[in-house]
Amino acid sequence: MGHPVAPLPLLLLLLLLHPVTPTTPAAPAAPCFPALPAASAELDLANRSRQCAELDWGPFQQKSRLWLSHNGIGALSPSSRIGPELLELDLSHNRLRELPPAFLSRARHLRHLQLQHNQLRQLPAGFFANATALQILRLEGNPLPAVPPTAFQASLQLLAVPCRCDVVGTILAPCTCSGCAAPQCHCLTTHHSFVNVTDFHRQQCRHNVGLVAGLAGAAAGVAVLVLGTAAVCYWRRKAATGAASVGWGKWEPAGAHGQPRYISRAMETGTTDATAALDYENVFVNPCTVPAATPGWMPRWQEEQHR
Ligand SMILES: *[C@@H]1O[C@H](CO)[C@@H](O)[C@H](O)[C@H]1NC(C)=O
Ligand SMILES: *[C@@H]1O[C@H](CO)[C@@H](O)[C@H](O)[C@H]1NC(C)=O
Ligand SMILES: *[C@@H]1O[C@H](CO)[C@@H](O)[C@H](O)[C@H]1NC(C)=O
Repeated sequence: MGHPVAPLPLLLLLLLLHPVTPTTPAAPAAPCFPALPAASAELDLANRSRQCAELDWGPFQQKSRLWLSHNGIGALSPSSRIGPELLELDLSHNRLRELPPAFLSRARHLRHLQLQHNQLRQLPAGFFANATALQILRLEGNPLPAVPPTAFQASLQLLAVPCRCDVVGTILAPCTCSGCAAPQCHCLTTHHSFVNVTDFHRQQCRHNVGLVAGLAGAAAGVAVLVLGTAAVCYWRRKAATGAASVGWGKWEPAGAHGQPRYISRAMETGTTDATAALDYENVFVNPCTVPAATPGWMPRWQEEQHR
């Protein structure tokens, strides 16, 4: 005989009193950068992390320069705000899909912002409104369709975007305004070289517009041609069926010449002249076998009722 078997209710009671503690508590995700030097105002953390699902911005509040590129950062914690001390921030070459809308709300001293080579799809219209000291803004390598108008602060000196006609179209005017201190605007081509956006737009985008217009014109031309041909065919067919239908002409069996005759009865009825009373006939002939015209017939045709 072994141990006495405990009844089932007792087992359940024991389980309730001593719940199995989970081996992995619902701990916060591991920080992207385990050990951060707290004191320094500048912090270079480029190439330190391979995977960083969400970066907690808390430790970076007091920094003046921050390099966070090449870290696989997927997102910033939603409450992230740049501190007013920050002058330069490099978040390039990460996996950011969006940024908190108020991320730059206190960034009044921010001069350099590098966001190139992320996966940013859009930035809110007022995103840069408070970044009034912004001088360098790099956005190339993102699938952004447009640059928010608030990016064009009076302080802006350099702007980089991807070379696509949609995004370049949104910056062309502020990048080329004459008489104002327009920033230098460059775009990154698919061959990884920077070109002047004015030149890019002139060479690539107007050409596209011309191509579209040309295609539309060609399509319109083809449509007109088809319609015209159809109209001509319609009228031809209508004329042919009209001639073949009863009308006032009728097909006669072949006459003495051995040719089919198409005879129209003359409408004049008052004349008693023998020649005029004769039906005039349209005789289909070969050009080679001209029937001998009866004398007096042609003059009548020309001068009288049949004119
Ligand atoms: C980080 O690593 C990439 C390659 O993975 C390299 O191109 C880049 O220069 C490095 N950046 C820094 C600041 O070390
Ligand atoms: C700009 O700053 C003001 C106050 O400093 C704040 O009320 C406003 O929401 C900020 N705007 C943006 C777009 O962050
Ligand atoms: C871009 O090109 C235009 C015309 O070719 C020129 O006026 C402008 O100065 C150029 N901008 C830069 C930043 O090179």
